[in-house]
Amino acid sequence: MKIIISGGTGFIGAKLSERLNNKGYTVAVISRKPSAVNKKYKALGWDENEIILFIKGEKFGVINLAGRSISSGRWTDKNKKRILKSRIWSIDFFENLFEKTKLLPEVFVQASAIGYYGTHEEYSFSEKSDVGEGFLANLSFEIEKAFSNKIKSEKKIIIRTGLVTDKSGGFLKRLLVPFRLYAGGHFGNGRQYFSWIHIEDEIRAIEFLLENPQARGVYNLSSPYAVRMKEFCKTLGRILKKPSYLHVPGFVLKLIFGQMAKEVLLSGQKVVPERLIEEGFEFSFPKLDAALSQILLNKY
Ligand SMILES: NC(=O)c1ccc[n+]([C@@H]2O[C@H](COP(=O)([O-])OP(=O)(O)OC[C@H]3O[C@@H](n4cnc5c(N)ncnc54)[C@H](OP(=O)(O)O)[C@@H]3O)[C@@H](O)[C@H]2O)c1
Repeated sequence: MKIIISGGTGFIGAKLSERLNNKGYTVAVISRKPSAVNKKYKALGWDENEIILFIKGEKFGVINLAGRSISSGRWTDKNKKRILKSRIWSIDFFENLFEKTKLLPEVFVQASAIGYYGTHEEYSFSEKSDVGEGFLANLSFEIEKAFSNKIKSEKKIIIRTGLVTDKSGGFLKRLLVPFRLYAGGHFGNGRQYFSWIHIEDEIRAIEFLLENPQARGVYNLSSPYAVRMKEFCKTLGRILKKPSYLHVPGFVLKLIFGQMAKEVLLSGQKVVPERLIEEGFEFSFPKLDAALSQILLNKY
């Protein structure tokens, strides 16, 4: 099958493209800069004609990971609008394309995030939980609403992804810097939950949903064992053989990062991947210790 990955140049997209390409899918990556796309894949712009030519009337699926990063600067009103607009814009693009051409993807996977649930120090959130409060909850809600209303496909899937964990990108790459300088530690009181997922399981879960004929609707992509930030940092310190005793007080982070500090750095949510487990997905790295050991020490 042909697979179009928009945002396939990003942290998750690059690994996903590689995986699906190696499995025999014909992968095309849509990018704002097609010349920068890895030559292994067909590079497409956000251009209807190029996409129609690639599909050539054959069966195809779409995985839409494109959008301005939530960590692209302070969350000013202007930036928040740009983050939302970049994501709704890509959904509108596919809606128009499918309407004009009467093309119908076999499967359409849309990126969302566990930020959908808002934050809480104690609750566990499954796919059945309600939308929470805050910018990320609103952003995820709007993305999912646009997707549900505008995209037609045989099989529609929303992935609510947790904190994707790998040393090549995402939050761990940033967290490693102070740890390697012997200045590692948690943020605020460290009680905020980290619903992390090993990059390998993120990619395998997307592949599972793509290939499982029964899969439909919303799935949480996070490990079954979320941990509090303090525990995450302690485990990280132990594996790196570096201390994890410093901690950055909340007010400092709020001063530097504003609302982002409140929603992302100082609070979190404990998310359970209920539907993936019910439907038989087996995590390669369900526990943090093994996940970090594999990522940082190439163990397992
Ligand atoms: N990484 C995580 O831990 C995490 C957690 C939860 C949810 N997610 C979601 O999963 C998706 C992929 O995440 P990621 O970490 O791989 O993101 P990423 O590395 O930031 O990649 C996103 C891609 O989107 C494209 N893009 C950036 N700004 C854009 C804009 N203004 N308009 C259109 N396209 C734009 C870029 O591709 P080009 O430059 O090639 O156009 C970029 O490669 C995102 O929707 C993200 O919100 C990620």
